[in-house]
Amino acid sequence: MKVSLLFSLSLLTTALAIPFHALELEPRGNPAKVSGAPDPVPTLNPVGKSHSSVLVHPWIPASAIKNSSRSPCPLLNTLANHGYLDRSGRRLKKSDFETGLVQGINLELTFAAALTDNAFFKLADNYGFNPEDPRANLDLEQLNVPNETEHDQSMTRKDVIQGDTLHQQPKMIAQVLGDSTPPSYPYLNTSSFGRTRLRRANESLAIGSRPLRPEEVASCNGEAALVVILLGETRRRNSESDDWLVKKERAGMWFSDERFPWGWKRSSVPITLGMMNEFAGRIVFWQNYWKGLDCGLGSGKGETLPLGKC
Ligand SMILES: *[C@@H]1O[C@H](CO)[C@@H](O)[C@H](O)[C@H]1NC(C)=O
Ligand SMILES: *[C@@H]1O[C@H](CO)[C@@H](O)[C@H](O)[C@H]1NC(C)=O
Ligand SMILES: *[C@@H]1O[C@H](CO)[C@@H](O)[C@H](O)[C@H]1NC(C)=O
Ligand SMILES: *[C@@H]1O[C@H](CO)[C@@H](O)[C@H](O)[C@H]1NC(C)=O
Repeated sequence: MKVSLLFSLSLLTTALAIPFHALELEPRGNPAKVSGAPDPVPTLNPVGKSHSSVLVHPWIPASAIKNSSRSPCPLLNTLANHGYLDRSGRRLKKSDFETGLVQGINLELTFAAALTDNAFFKLADNYGFNPEDPRANLDLEQLNVPNETEHDQSMTRKDVIQGDTLHQQPKMIAQVLGDSTPPSYPYLNTSSFGRTRLRRANESLAIGSRPLRPEEVASCNGEAALVVILLGETRRRNSESDDWLVKKERAGMWFSDERFPWGWKRSSVPITLGMMNEFAGRIVFWQNYWKGLDCGLGSGKGETLPLGKC
């Protein structure tokens, strides 16, 4: 998600066993097996099958909602497009964001509240509200404030010096989908998102954007981690974050249409900051790997990495 949060490094813990969180397979069959690719079919039964998020909350694109407002954050827009946030995307209070995040993706309440408080606190001066006032509210587009709740080096949005930081860019989405090695590999994972992060940092600095603040770097890594957590599938219980695979067709739907892909189910366990840091740590590891950095971090699976150390 694009809303900034200072992911507390102190909350990095030793490797978490990632609770199994599988997703119902879409009915259209599996992507063609590419040589060298693992078997694409997660073989365990999905957990939490009774919760049919997408049926109860159908996707209606923002363009079909009169005068709707959308943000630079694919997650929040997806929640609005599925009605977990008011489909107008307007006059959303803190309690609306918290409820939407919890009900829509099973984000842990304390995590949802921290993200929400952070955004309202940052934007209080911009819009002249008291962030403690439960009546304070935002339209989604009002989150598009560079240096506050919007940052450069985003995966699918341009930098502020390029102009439009609000809308997803089809060309940038295609680049994210091409960051696997080889580009034809049918999945994204922590490794490909490490490449995405490296590429976006390089591109951003090359056009003259300022380096990100540590807090913004943490947001970038957290956003990439969340895509793997939300859309990823894994074949093993307690799989480590590197083993989670995101089908590119699902990632494409998410980024382009800002919708939960076919057959998507929310996680049956609350998504915590610790879980996000675990995945983000691996994305940082792979970013350094692809950069050719020897950070002395080893390549063992599942270790927790000190974000930003090298
Ligand atoms: C859209 O909503 C905004 C905020 O509520 C309002 O100021 C504006 O007048 C509305 N525009 C139209 C065309 O309804
Ligand atoms: C954003 O922050 C950077 C440094 O953190 C500063 O140089 C720049 O002026 C800020 N831009 C705006 C529009 O506030
Ligand atoms: C992650 O994706 C890359 C391709 O980008 C692939 O080579 C690698 O095997 C994948 N990792 C796992 C653990 O499946
Ligand atoms: C990014 O820049 C680093 C060094 O400046 C370089 O080693 C690396 O290949 C670049 N990566 C990409 C994906 O452009």
